[in-house]
Amino acid sequence: MQPVQIICGDAATVISRLPESAFDMCVTSPPYYGLRDYETPGQIGLGTTPEEYIQALVSVFREVRRVLRPDGTLWVNIGDSYATSSGPQPPRNTRNSQGHTSKTVPDGYKRKDLIGVPWMLAFALRADGWYLRQDIIWHKTNGMPESVRDRCVKAHEYIFLLSKSPTYYFDAEAISEPIAESSKRRYMEDIQAQQGSSRIPGKTMRAALPRFGGQKYGDDPSPAARTKSGGLYIPTLRRNKRDVWPMATAHYKGAHFAVFPEALAQTCILAGSRPGGRIIDPFMGSGTSGIVAVKNNRTFTGVDINPDYCTLAQDRISEYLAPLFMTAQ
Ligand SMILES: C[S@@+](CC[C@H](N)C(=O)[O-])C[C@H]1O[C@@H](n2cnc3c(N)ncnc32)[C@H](O)[C@@H]1O
Repeated sequence: MQPVQIICGDAATVISRLPESAFDMCVTSPPYYGLRDYETPGQIGLGTTPEEYIQALVSVFREVRRVLRPDGTLWVNIGDSYATSSGPQPPRNTRNSQGHTSKTVPDGYKRKDLIGVPWMLAFALRADGWYLRQDIIWHKTNGMPESVRDRCVKAHEYIFLLSKSPTYYFDAEAISEPIAESSKRRYMEDIQAQQGSSRIPGKTMRAALPRFGGQKYGDDPSPAARTKSGGLYIPTLRRNKRDVWPMATAHYKGAHFAVFPEALAQTCILAGSRPGGRIIDPFMGSGTSGIVAVKNNRTFTGVDINPDYCTLAQDRISEYLAPLFMTAQ
């Protein structure tokens, strides 16, 4: 396969033609429910009930599961929507058989209800065979203001980590984060106390070391994760990544929709794939996941239903590919 492959079309149809077990991981942000019009027939997100929307996504991710390796993971960034009749009207051809549009308050919901789209999707994917492993909160540090007076301003979205099998590739060290200043001080005090005491060197420190779980690291940290000093093991003062990710939203002038931040895609890609691994994004949009994949020495397959976004993604990704090819010559 090419280092970068961009395929324009409906995600479920395109991915059904790709070979089984060809990909290491999938990172993606599906279209929101009832918020944006991507101006393409067959688009997911407009003109359906929430249940129909979730079923459409489950069908796409069922094909994604087939093309993932047995130790592969899926990272889905998804935001919620309110049952409301305001916002963009869907095109006529996206009305469903009952004449519903996503801007009609759907049956079973009241106007102003929060739909709960992220958890509807998470539970539906779990029921379809995925292992639902974690809900991660993306805290949008520069979220948009809202003129609401009867609830708080929304400043988060979910990222769900799902796996094809109960054990899977996860590089905890690649996404480890610096420990808090207070913990750092405690470690240093502990080292000083050991140096002045008759305790077995290293025993207390080893107990206090961050534990890298998962397949790559056992409970004892790898030699690379610590340094030896005066008979004591000094940790590299990093800890396992927490499940709240504070990150600023990204804006790209060429796209009229929210692109996800490179930092978000990068965290998922580093944890979920080895260097040289192959990444897939079924809703690639402007191609952010592809840019991050090539910058981090991974290969990439991106799918989008809108031909303009396919061209945009191709242009954006090739800006990063050209220098990579030049350095390889
Ligand atoms: C939220 S945007 C993705 C943004 C992307 N993460 C980025 O950083 O640019 C969702 C994308 O899904 C695409 N889309 C909607 N329905 C689709 C379908 N049935 N198959 C493939 N792509 C679809 C839209 O055209 C849109 O580009």
